[in-house]
Amino acid sequence: MTITRKVGHRERSVFACKECGHETAKWVDRCPGCDAWNSSVEWREPKAAAPPGLTATAEAPVQLAELHIENTPRLPLGIGELDRVLGGGLVPGSLVLLGGDPGIGKSTLILQAAGSIASPKRPVVYLAGEESPSQVKLRAERLGLTGEGLYVIGETALERALEQAAAQNPALVIVDSIQTVYCEELEGGRSGPGSLAQLRESTLLLMRWAKQSSVPVFLIGHVTKDGDIAGPRMLEHIVDVVLYLEGDRYSAYRLLRGVKNRFGSVDEVGVFEMAGDGLRGVENPSEAFIAERPADAIGSAIVPTLEGSRPVLIEVQALTSPSVTPAPRRTANGLDINRLLLVTAVLSRRLNMVQLAQQDVIANVIGGLRIGEPAADLGLALAIVSSFKDKAFPPDLVAIGEVGLSGELRSVAHLERRLLEAERLGFKRCVLPESTLTRQRPQTGIELLPAAGLRDAVRLALNH
Ligand code: TYD
Ligand code: MG
Repeated sequence: MTITRKVGHRERSVFACKECGHETAKWVDRCPGCDAWNSSVEWREPKAAAPPGLTATAEAPVQLAELHIENTPRLPLGIGELDRVLGGGLVPGSLVLLGGDPGIGKSTLILQAAGSIASPKRPVVYLAGEESPSQVKLRAERLGLTGEGLYVIGETALERALEQAAAQNPALVIVDSIQTVYCEELEGGRSGPGSLAQLRESTLLLMRWAKQSSVPVFLIGHVTKDGDIAGPRMLEHIVDVVLYLEGDRYSAYRLLRGVKNRFGSVDEVGVFEMAGDGLRGVENPSEAFIAERPADAIGSAIVPTLEGSRPVLIEVQALTSPSVTPAPRRTANGLDINRLLLVTAVLSRRLNMVQLAQQDVIANVIGGLRIGEPAADLGLALAIVSSFKDKAFPPDLVAIGEVGLSGELRSVAHLERRLLEAERLGFKRCVLPESTLTRQRPQTGIELLPAAGLRDAVRLALNH
């Protein structure tokens, strides 16, 4: 995309905590994020970086009608699930941040992408700050890459590394990771790699370099335990695209989500499976996630959830067992503990036949996935009831619906998309909130079992 008139931007001043990156509008003596004292520093939020071709100088207002935009081709990375999340590939000169927990597979994914596009005519440069070039080579071998056209640079002083990179005339530059590189210019490189100031300066330098050279740059960033890209959210403001690779380390599945994209939608989700030779795209996630489910699974329910705009069937499991402690335990893996507490409390109060006050309840989402949406409440409730009653629901049943505090069921969005996915995978009926059908009339071959409330839904599911 090239925009041919010049547009102006303003810089905004904000304060951020040196320790955790928590942002505030004013200077504060104690950080509300991590309680650190005197950690607040001022910094200027950079102008929203202009897309390639757009130089941000003139302050004169511009009529949108006068702007002329040409489509420049994106650089597809040859990995379907990654390109899907990027919106078709990398925009020239864009800066993309890939975040995720250490060990989740970021370097693997990026190296695969690098290997898939690199050729002697189209070189890719990999700044390896975390590993030695020979370690990168070992990984590349494991991934079955020849390494032709793939240049590894071990230099972590960014100015010099970028000079070396530019000499190769690369089609793509990868920085693994932003926490290990530093700008020499900043205090002569004295504030070490990984410090807040270095993270910011390095990212800004990469941003300028990417825009000037029109070479896309992929940045890898580790995530702190709170889920922020180490520490500072400010990196997210600077870069054009933010992707997160997530999943349970002990499970093979990985989800790649877009959380920001200046050039496309953030609704797409990529699904991968970690294998011995790298990450493989999972084209049929629903099939994969429910593949191992036995037909008469007790304590299990299938929920058609939405990952971005993509419907994915997910199995929710629950196990109830008499508690040996005075305060029964509630454990949630892959879903919000507060949703579990809410659903167990509502079940105990509204359904006489499900008394959970003396029961430990463990809830689990299969495949190391995480469900973020309340539409999975009803599935969770059914899984708990099934375990408590020691009775399986019909194997061809799915459930959708948010549970309210008085036991009512609340409607969910994009019903038809969810039902289509369930139908595609052979499910025949769906328990869902009655209220949903007043607004949406889904075209579906699935038998709909509308329920007025949670009690009604449990009755319908048990009697079918
Ligand atoms: P890595 O890409 O190094 O993670 P990150 O860069 O996010 O820290 O991935 C590391 C894990 O992936 C490691 O535990 C080994 C595993 N792995 C595989 O299972 N298969 C493979 O082909 C590769 C390269 C790694
Ligand atoms: Mg790595």
